[in-house]
Amino acid sequence: MPTPDPRARHQDLVQEIEAHRAAYYGDDAPTVSDAEYDALERELRELEAQHPELADPDSPTQTVGSAGAPTGFASVKHRERMMSLDNAFTLAEIEAWLARVGREAGDHEIVCEPKIDGLSISLTYENGTLTQGITRGDGTTGEDVTANVRTIAGLPHTLHGTPPAVVEIRGEVFLPVEAFEQLNAALVEEGKPPYANPRNTAAGSLRQKDHTVTASRPLAVTTYALGALDWGTATPDPRVDTQAGIYEVLAEWGLPVSDAARTLRGIGPIEDYLATLEAKRHAMVYEIDGAVLKVNSRAVQRELGSTSRAPRWAIAYKFPPEEVHTTLEDIRVDVGRTGRVTPYGVMTPTLVAGSTVTFATLHNAHEVARKGVLIGDTVVLRKAGDVIPEIVGPVVAARTGKETPWTMPTECPSCGATLAQQKEGDKDLRCPNAEFCPAQIVDRIAFIGSRGAFDVEVLGERAAAALVEAGVLANEAGLFDLTEADLARVPLFTLESDSKKDGVERKAGDVSTNGLRLLANLATAKQQPLWRVIVSLSIRHVGPSASRALATEFGSMDAIRAADGATLAAVEGVGAVIAESVLAWFEVPWHVEIVDRWAAAGVRMEDERDESVERTLEGLTIVATGSLENFSRDGVKEAIISRGGKASSSVSKNTDYVVVGANAGSKAAKAEELGVRVLNEAQFQALLDGGPGAIG
Ligand code: IVH
Repeated sequence: MPTPDPRARHQDLVQEIEAHRAAYYGDDAPTVSDAEYDALERELRELEAQHPELADPDSPTQTVGSAGAPTGFASVKHRERMMSLDNAFTLAEIEAWLARVGREAGDHEIVCEPKIDGLSISLTYENGTLTQGITRGDGTTGEDVTANVRTIAGLPHTLHGTPPAVVEIRGEVFLPVEAFEQLNAALVEEGKPPYANPRNTAAGSLRQKDHTVTASRPLAVTTYALGALDWGTATPDPRVDTQAGIYEVLAEWGLPVSDAARTLRGIGPIEDYLATLEAKRHAMVYEIDGAVLKVNSRAVQRELGSTSRAPRWAIAYKFPPEEVHTTLEDIRVDVGRTGRVTPYGVMTPTLVAGSTVTFATLHNAHEVARKGVLIGDTVVLRKAGDVIPEIVGPVVAARTGKETPWTMPTECPSCGATLAQQKEGDKDLRCPNAEFCPAQIVDRIAFIGSRGAFDVEVLGERAAAALVEAGVLANEAGLFDLTEADLARVPLFTLESDSKKDGVERKAGDVSTNGLRLLANLATAKQQPLWRVIVSLSIRHVGPSASRALATEFGSMDAIRAADGATLAAVEGVGAVIAESVLAWFEVPWHVEIVDRWAAAGVRMEDERDESVERTLEGLTIVATGSLENFSRDGVKEAIISRGGKASSSVSKNTDYVVVGANAGSKAAKAEELGVRVLNEAQFQALLDGGPGAIG
């Protein structure tokens, strides 16, 4: 690639940055992500460092924010200039900054605090009365938004104590994350474009022509610095000589300050602070995009001074970006294991929070509409920490007019069946063709292999698809009947060419090692406990906990099949909905066939009994209630079931004994009422050991 002419590149960068600044500060509608913007600024700074002849005082590296186009708000000059902050993106850059401070001014305390992602504001109080609220603008002149600022809850119109004659107080106006989400949802509902993020929403809300609109937005403010200060006749407060002292004074005047600021010394504690803050990042009411580090002593601050745009005594540490912009190339739908049809976005692959993201679920058609995204849109993509990627919304300002709306399909993309709601009012659409829909069959088979079900290594999505595609499995019923001859018909599990491994020669077309491993793993899986077999049936609402409850209660698939609705529903952790679902499932012939074929193939359909314990409770139904000294809740049930008894959770006339522990509730009373015999823990232990005869 030819090296670009530095002067031409410089010009391009300046133009591009200025356009982005105008969109961000002027229209509250950014056209690139913060991370992309930071990268442009950084490139410009490096270019100017290498080619000092290119630097000029109007370069974005030397200026702050954007004066922008006239907005209808009066322009007001700040008494003292409002600065920006230099950024550090790595701990090494923080260390370098600290080292420089050390070299120039010695070792000093550093105040560390969250960097709130809002918009800066300068508040002027004269003799304790709020007289002006001004945006930062270009740092010298900002917009007069006093009427709007006055509507912010939590911002005092008069200060407590004995404030100075004139003081400019700097802070950040922000919208709490929750309020942002609610507001955006409401905007889309009204057919209006949503805001890209809380910061732009706060800016848009503060710069409303009609201050009653601002008042309707739950804006908040945090203050963190002083600008011009004239004590007049008031006694100067010496605490303003340190940054930490300023926060004390601001709080005493009644202004909101962060409670997360800490005064620290040395790189170790500072790095610990940064790590802790980053971990808490999403637990805060406002969005933060990093931390700000400030030299505590104001005398040292003055000594270090400032560049034209930022102080040398402070630095912003930016967290790695969690939000990027990418193109939404398409919206497709996925048909899941239970037939649920889920739209998902297909994006230009983009690195976000440490991994490359191409897909993100959009949940359902309602969500797509709520987010207001069109195919072809530039979208904000976020991945907060380790969580799944999420499309936040469109970058409306980047639309070209070529974007197209998406519509939810009416037919299953896998089998063509007409999609339907399970019941009125459902947000999800489902493919009703559970028996024959290939997508559902593949997902169910892959699910059987998953760790929470039969746990068959090798049996994942790809293997399941290959088995179904090759026609060796029509559905999951034949899974445990698979033979080597079957796998020889599946390209994924056969050798492409002759090979020799561990002295064994094999021919092209033979089943691969992986295929053999699949068969071996399936054979081993036949011995899995009953609850895993139940989970693997993909019965609606029956997840691992309901499956465990059913297995513990009934001990065998036959017993579950034989149980009636009331018996199922009475099991703790089951209840009416699940009971109904289980009953309905067993009424379908092809479902029953799955169970029968698995059983015939040798899948264990009952839990092993511990033969070493005597079956002292055969035929007895026992309810335990309250907490026992020597048994956990599950432990009681296990003790009863392993001795041949039935552990039930509700007392009826069929109950033989009710075991009562500490803090027992209504079940003890019910037992009395029905004349069921009540046992304490010692009697229960005697019953377990010797049967009814042991307790007389
Ligand atoms: S101090 C002279 N402290 O970040 C130093 N700024 O990227 C003035 N910001 O313009 C800023 N949280 O709008 C400071 N705790 C904090 C901050 C903070 C957010 C904003 C502020 C500033 C921008 C620079």
